[in-house]
Amino acid sequence: MNTIPTQYQITNPIHQKTYLVNGALKTWTGKTTEVHSVISSTKEYQPTLLGSIPYMEKDTAIEALTAACDAYDKGQGLWPTMKVAGRIKCMEKFTEIMKTKRDEVVKYLMWEIGKSLSDSQKEFDRTIEYIYDTIEEYKQIDRDSAKFTKAGGIYAHIRRGPLGVVLCLGPYNYPLNETFALLVPALIMGNTTIFKPAKHGVLLFSPLLEAFQESFPKGVVNIVYGRGRKVATPIMQTGRIDVLALIGNSKSAIALQDEHPHKNRLRLVLGLEAKNPAIILPDADLGLAINECLAGSLSFNGQRCTALKIIYVHDDIKDEFIKRFAKKVDALPFGNPWDEGVKLTPLPEPNKIAYIQELIEDALAKGAKIQNKKGGKTTENFIFPAVVYPVKPTMRVYEEEQFGPVVPVLSFKNIDEPLADIADSNYGQQVSLFGKNVDTLSRLIDTLVNLVCRVNLNSSCQRGPDVFPFTGRKDSAVSTLSVHDALRSFSIRTFVASKDNPYNNAILEDLMACGKSNFMSTDYIL
Ligand code: G3H
Repeated sequence: MNTIPTQYQITNPIHQKTYLVNGALKTWTGKTTEVHSVISSTKEYQPTLLGSIPYMEKDTAIEALTAACDAYDKGQGLWPTMKVAGRIKCMEKFTEIMKTKRDEVVKYLMWEIGKSLSDSQKEFDRTIEYIYDTIEEYKQIDRDSAKFTKAGGIYAHIRRGPLGVVLCLGPYNYPLNETFALLVPALIMGNTTIFKPAKHGVLLFSPLLEAFQESFPKGVVNIVYGRGRKVATPIMQTGRIDVLALIGNSKSAIALQDEHPHKNRLRLVLGLEAKNPAIILPDADLGLAINECLAGSLSFNGQRCTALKIIYVHDDIKDEFIKRFAKKVDALPFGNPWDEGVKLTPLPEPNKIAYIQELIEDALAKGAKIQNKKGGKTTENFIFPAVVYPVKPTMRVYEEEQFGPVVPVLSFKNIDEPLADIADSNYGQQVSLFGKNVDTLSRLIDTLVNLVCRVNLNSSCQRGPDVFPFTGRKDSAVSTLSVHDALRSFSIRTFVASKDNPYNNAILEDLMACGKSNFMSTDYIL
């Protein structure tokens, strides 16, 4: 084991003794759960104790919900009625404090989920950029609506208003970025929130609790800890949640929706599973395709919803592709997140190694072979990525979203084969298409854009840049996230209409002149 650089050592575990509810950091006196990292701090392998978090149940969950409902106060609360400029100020204040916590958050990202130092720093910086971009976009939306429209003899002042109380649940692979990509637009549009950190990646929020408390009015941000079943389920059962915002698994999303007694009132913002394919055509630049497939399938050990999770390679080039790809996989350096140049890192989910092993064994039993020398080798906290070929539809690794280090490869003779598979798949997020013949590409693009929501030409799949729409068809998503679209997803168009006559027009003019309504305003926020 390498020595851990001093600045990343765990000297004082974080015992999270407070929780943020109704604007107060209340002391937690109940049961707690220990948080361990799968990374060892000692020569002899043993998980490292990082700290502990409250083990919450129904009572505390309802306390947080009540605080969020009171802060929304049926649309009359301070936050939902506040001027746009006021909400932006609070968000800016939060971001300024958050920026001072970069090192602490990055350190816990590495320990809790095993993300490399550079990727953890990227996750933090991308989140800060996302917040600033959201603020600018909201200003633009506000400027665009600072006017009256007239149709059919009626003046309309149309804006976007909040939806109510939002329950935000983020995933473990981007515990900071994806949780905030839900929370930030939800907040800035005037909703009040309860958020629960993912199962892994919880303590990294501890340095931010005071920033939330200092920056937002009471009850606007409430944080609950614990198991989804214990805290999210009772919150949903009350029927008081207006938006379920979740990035994760469709099973949990469906289970939570099912708990809500008024389905038609519940809006959904969901980013779910995907099985993004790469299609490598015979005229593809093979070196480029191999490098993109390598990063696409194995960045952060394949634990990305946008990861390439199945590779279709044309029969004419399959041998060459597999040989060169397998060699490059074996050359990926494994180590701890802070190790220089590390590409593969420990897997934060203790049961992941056994799951990936099951997928590999199932594929081998049905006729596939591991194509790389190191494929499937395990240690206490890792299983080396296995390139598995030839994969068939009867294999689990073909069907299931592996979300980890195994790369299934199939070969095809006719392009209609992968197209039919993608059409039949339960997922529809993105595809990577490698080739250059424009006749072939044109036909494929015209079909693929109707099966997924982003066709990446000669590059791997990815969410960013965050200003682009991020969504999916079928079981992959509900609603669209981008800096702009997220603001739409967490709000609704609402407006004041007034017939064009002298009586109404005089009132409208007075309303605008007195400046007492925070909604009725033609002021420009610069
Ligand atoms: O886990 C899914 C993430 O949204 C993927 O984002 O493509 O930037 O890694 P990324």
